[in-house]
Amino acid sequence: MNTINLRRSVRSFTNQRIEDDKIDKILRAAMQAPSGSNQQPWEFLVLSNADSLSKIRNFFPSSTFIQEAPLIIVVLETTDSKLPYFPYFSHQSMGACIENLLLEVTHLGLGACWVGVMKGEREDFLRQNFAIPDNINPFAIIAVGHPTNKDANKFIDRYNASKIHYNSY
Ligand SMILES: Cc1cc2nc3c(=O)[nH]c(=O)nc-3n(C[C@H](O)[C@H](O)[C@H](O)COP(=O)(O)O)c2cc1C
Repeated sequence: MNTINLRRSVRSFTNQRIEDDKIDKILRAAMQAPSGSNQQPWEFLVLSNADSLSKIRNFFPSSTFIQEAPLIIVVLETTDSKLPYFPYFSHQSMGACIENLLLEVTHLGLGACWVGVMKGEREDFLRQNFAIPDNINPFAIIAVGHPTNKDANKFIDRYNASKIHYNSY
């Protein structure tokens, strides 16, 4: 799948908005990911209006791509499943979900950059400003837009044979 090779972190966007049908495709792709015990521990906070975008832009004043992105998707991890919560499995599932999301973005000719959320001020900011309840963890911020550079998504060969161990480490 060539999209895997082309996907890059894109950090420069035009001000062109992302059409609703593309947002729908991105979210559908994210939700097609595999997940431990099929728990599908994801939810999505879509920031696309001026008010919500300005809140997040104010929190990242020196991040050019967050200032420019016409769409921010905050990927949320739910912990209120009826099944037991296993953070190890849940976090792996979240990674698969986000990679699916990024690949669909790339497939649509758009660009995105994953911004990590960790315990502390980023999590607190998201909880407080977007009314995220205690049982939902802000997991990642994904800035999405039309790349200013048409070649922003491009192949960089990262194959490294020394990382592969056949049959025994
Ligand atoms: C968990 C995680 C957190 C990241 N956080 C940030 C971030 O805070 N800011 C940023 O500019 N890029 C962030 N990135 C993007 C990485 O810097 C990027 O994926 C890496 O440099 C490889 O480049 P590529 O995505 O173009 O292949 C993050 C990526 C991951 C997976």
